[in-house]
Amino acid sequence: MNKISTKLAVCFFIVVLIMESLLMYYLHQNMINNRVEEEFSLLLANGANHRDVLIENYSDTTIKHIVLMEKNEKREVMIIDSTGSMIGSSDNSYMLQEEYQLSVDDFNGEKDYIVVSDWRSLPYIISVHPYVVDQNRSGVVLMFQSTKSINQMVDDMNLHFVISGIIGLIVLFIIYALLSKILTRPLIRMKEATEKLSKGDFEVNLPNLGSDELGDLSNSIHKLAKDLKRLKNERNEFLASIAHELNTPLTYLIGYSKVAKREDLSDKDRKYYLEIIGEESNRMKELMKNLLDLARMDENTFTISKEHFLAKPFLENIYKFVAPSFEIKKIKLNLVCKSNLHIYADALRLEQIILNLLDNALKYSNENSEVCLKAYEKDGSTVISVIDTGIGIPSNEIEFIFEKLYRVEKSRSRAYGGSGIGLAVVKELVDAHGGTIEVESKIGQGSTFKITI
Ligand SMILES: Nc1ncnc2c1ncn2[C@@H]1O[C@H](COP(=O)(O)OP(=O)(O)OP(=O)(O)O)[C@@H](O)[C@H]1O
Ligand SMILES: [Mg+2]
Repeated sequence: MNKISTKLAVCFFIVVLIMESLLMYYLHQNMINNRVEEEFSLLLANGANHRDVLIENYSDTTIKHIVLMEKNEKREVMIIDSTGSMIGSSDNSYMLQEEYQLSVDDFNGEKDYIVVSDWRSLPYIISVHPYVVDQNRSGVVLMFQSTKSINQMVDDMNLHFVISGIIGLIVLFIIYALLSKILTRPLIRMKEATEKLSKGDFEVNLPNLGSDELGDLSNSIHKLAKDLKRLKNERNEFLASIAHELNTPLTYLIGYSKVAKREDLSDKDRKYYLEIIGEESNRMKELMKNLLDLARMDENTFTISKEHFLAKPFLENIYKFVAPSFEIKKIKLNLVCKSNLHIYADALRLEQIILNLLDNALKYSNENSEVCLKAYEKDGSTVISVIDTGIGIPSNEIEFIFEKLYRVEKSRSRAYGGSGIGLAVVKELVDAHGGTIEVESKIGQGSTFKITI
C-alpha cells in the first residue's frame, strides 16, 4: 500500500465498484420489473380475449377451441363455471388444479386481475377473467403463464452482469497499470533525483513532463538543482575570494612588520611602514565586520530601532563622508532632497544601506560619470534612490545580486574588488525595516537602486 498508484487504484476501485453496483442493481431491477409487467399484461390480454370469445359464442365448441389454442408449453387455460366445476382445461393432467386448489369463491369482483404473481418461487403466474353470459352461465377463465421464461431471462441477465463486472475489473486493472506508469514512474525518478541532490550531485536529468503538477514539480527540482549548484560554486568562490582578500593584507602585514622590526630603519620609514600595517589591519577588520554582520543577520539577532529624523542633514552627512572618494575617481555626486523631508527608520542601519549602494555606484561607474542620491516622499513612504550611469547589470543577473556572495561576472568583480556581501546586507536591512528595494539597470547605461521605507 506504499505506492501512490496502488492507493489511487484502490480508491478508484472502491468508487467505481460502488457506482457500478448501484447502477447495475438499478438496471437489473428495472429490466426485470419491465419484463414481468410485460408478461402480466400479455397474460391479461390473452385471458380477456378468451373470455370475450366465450361470452360471444358460449358453446362446447368454443370452449374446446379456447383450450386447443393454449395447448403449448408456456401457457395453460382453465374455464370454471359458477358451481366450481371445470368445464375446460388445457392441462390434461389436472396437476395445476390440484396444486393451486382454485375455486370460484376465491375470485371476487368482476374485473380481470393477476391472482398469483410470485414468479420467483412458483412455477406459474395466474390471471383471472370472470365471465357472465346469462344468469345460469357464468364463471371464470383462468390463465396460467409458466415463470420458466422469466426466470431464464433473469439468469441470462445475471450472467451478463457478471461478465460486465469482470470486464470492469479488467478495465480497472488496466487503469491501475497506466496510473502506475504515468504517475509513479516520474515520481520515482524525481525521488531519485532529489536523493542525488542531497548527496551533492547536482547533475539532474528529468524528462519533460508537460505543464501539469508533475511537470511543475519536475521543473522545480531542475531549478533547485541549478540553484544548489550555483550556491555551491558561489560558496567556493566566496571562500576563495575571502582567502584572497585576507591573504593580500596578511602578506603585507608580515612583510612590513618584518621591515619595521629592522634596527637600521629611520623613524620616518618605521612610521610609514607602521601606518601601512595599520591601514591593512583596518581593511581586514572592515571585511570581518561585514562578514560578522551578515552572519548575525542570518540568525536574526540584530534589532532595528526606528526613529523620526530629518532627511537632509542625515544625507548631507553621508555625502560629506563619501565625497572625497567620488572626487578621486572624478565622479560627480549629486544630492537631491527637500529640506522638510522626514524619515522614519533606524538611522545607523539606513546609513549602512546608503553607504553600500553609494559604494557600488562608485565602484561600478567609470571616471567622469555622475551619481545621484535622491530622497523624496511617495504615498506616505520615503523613497531613497541611488542612480548611477555606470557599467550596469545584465538583466538575467539582476534577480541574483541580493544573494549572499553573488557577484556579476566574477572576474569583473575581482577586478573591482567586491566580495558580494554589500547588497545581501542591504536587502536584509531593508527587509528588517519592512521596506522594499527595486533595481533597474541597463548594461552600459547605468543602474538605479530604489529603497522604499
Ligand atoms: N551600481 C551597480 N552597477 C553595476 N553593478 C552593480 C551595481 N551594484 C551592484 N552591482 C553588481 O552586483 C554585485 C553584488 O553587489 P554587492 O554590493 O553585493 O557586492 P560587491 O559590491 O561585489 O562586494 P561588497 O559590496 O561586498 O564589497 C556586484 O558584484 C556587481 O557586479
Ligand atoms: Mg558592494
